[in-house]
Amino acid sequence: MNAIIYIFILLQLSVNHIQAEQCVLTSNDEVQLTSSIFLQSRRYCSSFNFLPTQTHRIIISGRLVDYTSRCKRTIPDANIEIIHTQPDFRSICHELHHPNSRGHFNLTTLIASSLTEQLFLRVTSPGYETILKEIVIQSSQKQIQDIILDWHLVLMPSMEQVQLQQQQKQRMSSTIDSLMSQMTLDEKIGQLNLVSIGFDITGPIVSENVDEKIRYGLVGGVFNTYTPTAVRRLQELAINNTRLRIPLIFGYDVIHGHKTIFPIPLGMSTTWDMALIEQSARIAAQEASADGLNWVFSPMVDIARDPRWGRIAEGAGEDPWLGSQIAAAMVRGYQGSDLSRSNTVMACVKHFALYGGAEAGRDYNTVDMSRISMYQNFLAPYQGAVEAGAGSVMTSFNEIDSIPASGNRWLLQNLLRDQWSFNGFAVTDYTSINEMVEHGVGNLQDVSSRALNAGVDMDMVGEGFLTTLKTSLQEGKVSEQTINQACRRILEAKFKLGLFDDPYLYCDESRTPTDIFTYENRLAAKDFARRSFVLLKTDRKTLPLARSNLNIALVGPLADDNRNLLGTWAAGGDWRQTVSVRAGIEKLVGNQVQVSYAKGSNILDDSYMLDALNAYGSNIVSDERSPQEMINEAVAIAGKSDVIIAILGETEGMSGEAASRADIGLPESQKNLLKALFDTGKPVVIVLINGRPLTLTWEHDHAAAILEAWFPGTETGNAIAEVLFGYYNPAGKLTTTFPRHVGQIPLYYNHKRTGRPFNSSNFAEKYKSRYLDIPNDPLYPFGHGLSYTSFDFSPIHADKTELHGDSDRLTLRMGVSNVGAYAGEEVIQLYISDPVASSTRAVRELKSFRKLFLRSQQQEEVSFVITTNDLKFYNSNLDYVWEEGDFIIHIGPDSVNTKSVAIKWFK
Ligand code: NOJ
Repeated sequence: MNAIIYIFILLQLSVNHIQAEQCVLTSNDEVQLTSSIFLQSRRYCSSFNFLPTQTHRIIISGRLVDYTSRCKRTIPDANIEIIHTQPDFRSICHELHHPNSRGHFNLTTLIASSLTEQLFLRVTSPGYETILKEIVIQSSQKQIQDIILDWHLVLMPSMEQVQLQQQQKQRMSSTIDSLMSQMTLDEKIGQLNLVSIGFDITGPIVSENVDEKIRYGLVGGVFNTYTPTAVRRLQELAINNTRLRIPLIFGYDVIHGHKTIFPIPLGMSTTWDMALIEQSARIAAQEASADGLNWVFSPMVDIARDPRWGRIAEGAGEDPWLGSQIAAAMVRGYQGSDLSRSNTVMACVKHFALYGGAEAGRDYNTVDMSRISMYQNFLAPYQGAVEAGAGSVMTSFNEIDSIPASGNRWLLQNLLRDQWSFNGFAVTDYTSINEMVEHGVGNLQDVSSRALNAGVDMDMVGEGFLTTLKTSLQEGKVSEQTINQACRRILEAKFKLGLFDDPYLYCDESRTPTDIFTYENRLAAKDFARRSFVLLKTDRKTLPLARSNLNIALVGPLADDNRNLLGTWAAGGDWRQTVSVRAGIEKLVGNQVQVSYAKGSNILDDSYMLDALNAYGSNIVSDERSPQEMINEAVAIAGKSDVIIAILGETEGMSGEAASRADIGLPESQKNLLKALFDTGKPVVIVLINGRPLTLTWEHDHAAAILEAWFPGTETGNAIAEVLFGYYNPAGKLTTTFPRHVGQIPLYYNHKRTGRPFNSSNFAEKYKSRYLDIPNDPLYPFGHGLSYTSFDFSPIHADKTELHGDSDRLTLRMGVSNVGAYAGEEVIQLYISDPVASSTRAVRELKSFRKLFLRSQQQEEVSFVITTNDLKFYNSNLDYVWEEGDFIIHIGPDSVNTKSVAIKWFK
């Protein structure tokens, strides 16, 4: 391994004319990346076609942050260049977006051994002062092949930008001041009313007399209506009929794509690829904004530890740190750097808060958890989204500390606005104010005033605000000031979206063919889908499949299905535009490989669940043949095949909202089919299309391979075919634990130790925390995911084992080798344990990761830098602190199979 030098430079530019707190960098800012990271930025860097005799590689990595927002806002559009000043050697590697979360960048250049040219790093970003920094290579470093620089660059807004922002702010407040001075109380309350009308029904009741209410100025926003024509019609109603011509805001559930549907959010998270996630949100914003929309009800960032809860499909899994990275990436993707552009949309972080903690995994059920657990395990993703600048927040249906979220002032004022400095607006979830009546905390007037006083600004569908706030004002239950404040926040959102300048900004019909469901967007969706798949099991010989001379039996109720590929909340998606697995395979290898198909079973035969799903509009039509007839047909083709590919899983409606399941196994009908297939003795590859962790213990014992594909979206069939035939080597990693049995739930990797932990090597010990009938551990742990190739990991090298004080930092290095026959990616995960602390700690917590691409037989070194920030936790006073003592760092390909190193860190 080449020697590596780390140079850390913090450029802290100080200026007096800007009021800002000192920028505090966190551990995640202080990432040092190895040369291998270069491979990840391949999407961004142009190739090097110079320097015949190069001997050095310079790798510059780091982070760009905006000084004015206390480092919380990363720079979205930056051009980062390495400039060689000799004309012949002018090599520029551009990076137009961050390839990693929180503004990390990395770029590489090559230099000649006889270095004569001067090197500069130049960062230009619209609205910021340009940074031009010379890269000085010491003569002693010229012996070293890879020179790694880790720079943190703090960008100052340019004077013009500062002035512009101030002018915008002044313009916003004077526009709104002048409007509000003319508004009647009814008009102000009207702004707080969000109605649902149009193409979808996404809750238990629908809004009535919408046109009329819009005409009378009793509506602030509309959701479930899109297309430029439909939006324009409603916007015209508001602009042409109301006294003050205040535009409406148009929202929609754009959750994992708008028309081009990406994998469900759980599948997005298993890519562990922030750039890709951000890009998918960018594409969704592009499509949604071309379709009349300017507000999306996403990201959904609820941490979930219970796979019975159907909405686990909509989130990023069980880890709060990873969840916050993903939340921020999505907000950046939706909102871009300027909300008033016609191709950006306002994000809405949901469901604030703790909705994923529903007891027993039953949707809309009570949540009851300690404050310490909230802070340590559940709140980080909401905070991550808020810090990334999310313009709005949606309250959740559940209660928190016995107060429903939509009426919880601690949540909406103290935490959200006072502690996190949120300055957008808060909307409720669908009728959640009205549902406070059912929660038992008052009648509609009580709960509506309670919600407003707590900090809710907009009421979704329920019209509690519209019908009761005036009376509450007269009775002194709410103040005019509070109504004004809520109204102002809604108007500010509209101003930021550019709607006061042009109410029809998002109603441009000409964008439909160029922006929506384009070839490029579908390509991106296919790539994303491939990257989201998790290889849960492999016998290392069946996959990837041979591309010729192969006879495949393609079976299963989802093999030739289009209706169940988009998944939950693909609201604007059209299942008729999806590619089925059968079509994808036939298109890719149909000429060389023989594919026989049989359905084999219905997705489910269980009449209780069928009735429930069909009552919700699932439209599941069962095959008229008997289960045995269908199995016989599948077994007949399986008998003549070399390999069986079984496409199994859930219908769309079996996960998502209002889709909790008490048994999270494959339905009985599919298990019966599988049993018959296993009995043939042929290798069976199971491909799962579903929206939650399933219990797969029996399937694991018999299948040759299991590929978890989630609901992959529009490009399902193409993506699955490319992975099965090795055009892409799967690299997804689980972000949720897969239990062996439903009785283990809740089961998650960052659990506490207990006073009587069970050690499976002391099997006979009684009085330990265990089950008698099954092991404690999961079938597939958090972080798990295999590849067609194999990776080896060297022991961890730590540069020290004893550290002192806040400014000390620990550098850890690990060699990773691809020892298999295929190129592939590996996600190297870093966890920290804190064995002794003033309050109990999780057994380990994820703190960092690297995604690395290695060709067969290639070896690279990854490095991580740990600071005291990574040691912090919430103590029993809810202070975020670190305590001195022992720590164990674990690094590896998942949360279990790690190598470890023990260190001591003193104050
Ligand atoms: C209820 C869901 O909980 C929420 O996620 C969604 O955004 C709204 N309905 C609007 O459809």
